[in-house]
Amino acid sequence: MSAEQATNPPTPRSGPSRRLRRAAAWTGAGSLLLVLGMVLLCYFYYPAGLGKEQPIPFSHRVHAGDKEISCLMCHTTATGGARAGIPPLETCMLCHRRIIITYPKVKELREHYFAGRPVPWVRVNDLPDYVYFDHSMHLLRGFDCGKCHGDVKGMDRIVQPQEFKMGYCVQCHRDNGASHDCTICHR
Ligand code: HEC
Ligand code: HEC
Ligand code: HEC
Ligand code: HEC
Ligand code: HEC
Repeated sequence: MSAEQATNPPTPRSGPSRRLRRAAAWTGAGSLLLVLGMVLLCYFYYPAGLGKEQPIPFSHRVHAGDKEISCLMCHTTATGGARAGIPPLETCMLCHRRIIITYPKVKELREHYFAGRPVPWVRVNDLPDYVYFDHSMHLLRGFDCGKCHGDVKGMDRIVQPQEFKMGYCVQCHRDNGASHDCTICHR
């Protein structure tokens, strides 16, 4: 060890090696800036607010936004019951029996349908079991879906605009003169 150190004289701190080191530092800074720029670009195109990935990339922006399909065509039980419901594949097939059937993701969808295998959609909004929520009560009072779910028509993947914490529910009940008795939400 010590013999090796003796045979390797320290690098001189002058001449071409210093220039080399400075050049290396500049390239380092340059590539760091480049990486930073790329990260910013990715962030711009894929904002952090993008929701959970789904087994089939169903887009609300395409369906409810561009094609202006009514929320209630798919979430049929929202106005009549506690749950809005996730549509069965039969609903998708109303259109995708004919529309873009060769598009790979729609092909996949159709394979699920013909094999009788439901698509395991990933839940986004999910209250704990000890909380009771009812869609119809709120819709009857004239609240729009967007009041709680945000601008769904603009979302490729569903994101929660806010967490459904107790304070959020109770605040709106207060503001609208609705009951905030513990037992309406905790039965
Ligand atoms: C009322 C008709 C209709 C229904 C119902 C429907 N779709 Fe679509 N879907 C369309 C149309 C129109 C397009 C766009 C076709 C185009 O761009 O040419 C589309 C596009 C798609 C695409 C590919 C384009 C994209 O980026 O999203 C997928 C995947 C898809 N649909 C999945 C579904 C699923 C899953 C369901 C059921 C939950 C469903 N669709 C229900 C009409 C419908
Ligand atoms: C063509 C059918 C279709 C239409 C139209 C549609 N949805 Fe959906 N929706 C789905 C499917 C399928 C899912 C499950 C996959 C997902 O989360 O993207 C879903 C999921 C959701 C979820 C998240 C559910 C969860 O897991 O918590 C919300 C919220 C929602 N939809 C709201 C809306 C609103 C609001 C509209 C109208 C602006 C709408 N949807 C229109 C098919 C539809
Ligand atoms: C007052 C707030 C509020 C409004 C308005 C509202 N939702 Fe919801 N939504 C929720 C909450 C809270 C949940 C989670 C329920 C749970 O986990 O038990 C939810 C869950 C859902 C789900 C997941 C499946 C289910 O039924 O639990 C879908 C889909 C959905 N909402 C669609 C809609 C649509 C479509 C509309 C408009 C027609 C709408 N919501 C209006 C608060 C709301
Ligand atoms: C946008 C405002 C708003 C938000 C947000 C909201 N609520 Fe409500 N909620 C109301 C109003 C107003 C009523 C009264 C409806 C009526 O009786 O006509 C109500 C009624 C209810 C009822 C039925 C009460 C009864 O008399 O049986 C339940 C349960 C409920 N809300 C639970 C929740 C929960 C849980 C959340 C949060 C996840 C929530 N609400 C968020 C406004 C809201
Ligand atoms: C309008 C609906 C609503 C009312 C009214 C309400 N809660 Fe809640 N409560 C919720 C929701 C939603 C959650 C779930 C919050 C979460 O997931 O963090 C919750 C969670 C809780 C928890 C679990 C602990 C925690 O904070 O995570 C307790 C305990 C609780 N509530 C007690 C009460 C009591 C006591 C009352 C009456 C003074 C009450 N709640 C009234 C909606 C309500």
